[in-house]
Amino acid sequence: MRAQIIGTGSCLPEKIVTNDFLSTIVDTSDEWISQRTGIRERAVCTDETLTDLLTQAANQALERAGITAQELDLILCATIRGDYITPSQACVIQKEIGASCPAMDISAACTGFIYALDVAAGYFARKKVKKVLVLAGDCMTRMMDWSDRSTCVLFGDGAGAVVLGEGENLMAIQLTANGNVDVLNIPHVGGDSPFDKLPKSQSYLSMNGKEVYKFAVSSMYRDVQTVCDQAGVKVEDVDWIVPHQANLRIIEAAAHKLKVSGEKCLTGIENLGNTSAASIPIVLDRANTEGKFKAGDLLVLTAFGAGLTTGACVLRW
Ligand code: ACO
Repeated sequence: MRAQIIGTGSCLPEKIVTNDFLSTIVDTSDEWISQRTGIRERAVCTDETLTDLLTQAANQALERAGITAQELDLILCATIRGDYITPSQACVIQKEIGASCPAMDISAACTGFIYALDVAAGYFARKKVKKVLVLAGDCMTRMMDWSDRSTCVLFGDGAGAVVLGEGENLMAIQLTANGNVDVLNIPHVGGDSPFDKLPKSQSYLSMNGKEVYKFAVSSMYRDVQTVCDQAGVKVEDVDWIVPHQANLRIIEAAAHKLKVSGEKCLTGIENLGNTSAASIPIVLDRANTEGKFKAGDLLVLTAFGAGLTTGACVLRW
């Protein structure tokens, strides 16, 4: 593939909500949440919009890539729900950052960032682009039923961004989809058509946590091996695994099956919660700004989410 990451950025809302605070809203405890998920706190949108978060992440990534928005040839945004049904969130950000290239959204839930990388890789392969901004973000806490303790404690809000330039560092991407509405869904926001005979439902996330858990561990295990095979590398040679941050136990179980040591798995779930598609670029950005990655390091990104979708990517830093 003809692309490489040349800049990263991320942004979280200001308000931090701890597990202890959540236990004043629903019947839960810090002990239950942290033992079952690894989450201790999450950043939650109050007066911020998704546009605010994505704009900041995008500008950071552009600055670190050393390019202006006008140099972008394409903007892709992975999101479950942008601030508008239309225009796309990518178009909204295009205006905010002052770009003038085509822009579109990718809907693949928590796997969206890896789906977007694959779409971008296709544009590079067809030589239609030289610089692409890949964004991922969601305000998941605005899609929760805040009386349902089994879901509302799991999520947080945030945005991540990368700028892709030409290069040979994206080595392989593997995507899957296994259509399934029952295990994890968020119904649409209803209109008020006087002709509409469909039952009205609230636009809240519902999830069969146990089914997602089993699916997540087995698919991460399978996808990391498959994508490493495709890239011609061995799992044991991978320097860093950047997994979707949904549950620390899922990450640990998948790493155990892959025989990968815990130190190689980058995590941020402790203070992020599940930020959907943004989780991988946020953790990537943190590690990048902390100077964790050396040139030449081998990274594997791996995600699963509603759809059910999964994706994994091997890249050389
Ligand atoms: N606090 C206290 N107790 C709780 C809470 C809570 N927040 N939530 C559920 N419980 C209770 C349940 O009511 C149940 O009680 P019972 O035994 O009396 O019936 C008990 O805890 C066990 O509940 P389970 O659902 O069986 O708990 P489990 O060990 O499966 O953990 C969890 C639940 C954390 C959700 C886990 O299944 C999981 O992480 N699944 C994966 C979820 C995931 O990754 N989602 C992201 C999808 S990505 C995307 O695309 C959005």
